[in-house]
Amino acid sequence: MTYELNQKLYLNKKILVLGGDGFCGWPTSLHLSKQGYEVVIIDNLSRRNIDNELEVESLTPIRTLGERINSWKEMTGSQIRHINLNLAEDYDRLLQVINEEKPGAIIHFAEQRSAPYSMKSTRHKRYTVNNNMNATHNLLCAIAESGQDIHLVHLGTMGVYGYGTAGVKIPEGYLDVEVTTDQGERVAQQILYPTNPGSVYHMTKSQDQLLFQYYNKNDQIRITDLHQGIVWGTNTEETNLDERLINRFDYDGDYGTVLNRFLMQAALDYPITVHGTGGQTRAFIHIQDTVRCIQLSVENPPEKGERVMIFNQMTETHRVEDLAKMVAELTDGEIAYVPNPRNEAPENELHVKNDLFISKGLNPITLNRGLLEEVTEVARRYADRADLSKIPARSVWTKNQQAGVPEKRETVTDQT
Ligand SMILES: NC(=O)c1ccc[n+]([C@@H]2O[C@H](COP(=O)([O-])OP(=O)(O)OC[C@H]3O[C@@H](n4cnc5c(N)ncnc54)[C@H](O)[C@@H]3O)[C@@H](O)[C@H]2O)c1
Repeated sequence: MTYELNQKLYLNKKILVLGGDGFCGWPTSLHLSKQGYEVVIIDNLSRRNIDNELEVESLTPIRTLGERINSWKEMTGSQIRHINLNLAEDYDRLLQVINEEKPGAIIHFAEQRSAPYSMKSTRHKRYTVNNNMNATHNLLCAIAESGQDIHLVHLGTMGVYGYGTAGVKIPEGYLDVEVTTDQGERVAQQILYPTNPGSVYHMTKSQDQLLFQYYNKNDQIRITDLHQGIVWGTNTEETNLDERLINRFDYDGDYGTVLNRFLMQAALDYPITVHGTGGQTRAFIHIQDTVRCIQLSVENPPEKGERVMIFNQMTETHRVEDLAKMVAELTDGEIAYVPNPRNEAPENELHVKNDLFISKGLNPITLNRGLLEEVTEVARRYADRADLSKIPARSVWTKNQQAGVPEKRETVTDQT
């Protein structure tokens, strides 16, 4: 990146945060606002509507977006604005917003992000495809049509790679391959690391990659795609400032992600429900590191004309069963092994490179007792808000599978 270019993008401190009312988007909006960015949230509040549909609420009492924004202004004097707009459907308005706001960067969190939700029924599959694909494509079209030099930072997922192993660490986006031409010559190339999506949600994230590759090539849009691990934790430095700024905590079978679900279950004396054998290895990142990584990405844009920059946004990998045991030990809880509602390998190895963020200055937060206890305490504080009937994962990938309802309870010692 040339000095002039870096300065120009860096000086434009206007940022659009698409999906800024969500679990990752809200703490990111606060973090960037604190760092002096002028943040405009674009969110159609569809996630809150999905809570209504599923008849479940965040374990933490999240306030309306208006109250959140007013509280932030009251606490810090900084103004965050909200524009209610459906990215997947309202293209003209999106283009108008980009033309009027002229942001230096746009952070794109605004997709339906639950794999189980995307597999609930044909309607949910179609919704997820229509929402996610159109949101991303509309955004790329609007940036191209605006003619502005805007850096797009997108949240993808490590899950696109399908958790198989080819005997190599998963690289940051690109794989070195050698092909033999028809003339017998061996030619080295770099290709996008092949995806192997395990749900309709992951399929949309895999498709996003191709959209980025195309618009980057055709319209020279600067794009950073962050392949994020499973986010755990709930609060960040900024959301901890006041209860009205509290972050979302999903615990239900569709939106609750694995480590947070375990911590919440243990806090409520509910069995820690492990799907299948728990031999699945997954990549993780704490929410505080999510917001730091986003800032690092915004401040290190790729050069104009450079290919899509892909980072693995994760800090560590763990086997699900090891996490369950760790939480059981910490809380004196019980583990219940339930049929896996997902169609996935019962066990896998996972090795992932994350050198790029480390090289940009990330000092990763890794799993530690203090942070695990902090999440458990949050869960205990709001335990009376939990609806235990919403904990089991009931979405199944194929018709002949059983849902993940705990039937038999086994203690950790029985399992070891
Ligand atoms: N939470 C995780 O563990 C995790 C892990 C890996 C990747 N990610 C990715 O990070 C991103 C954010 O995840 P999250 O957990 O914050 O999700 P979330 O559901 O809490 O937030 C997404 C936000 O986007 C909004 N939105 C969705 N579709 C929209 C549309 N068409 N127009 C306008 N707004 C729309 C929703 O209302 C919601 O507020 C997602 O793209 C997800 O795939 C999340």
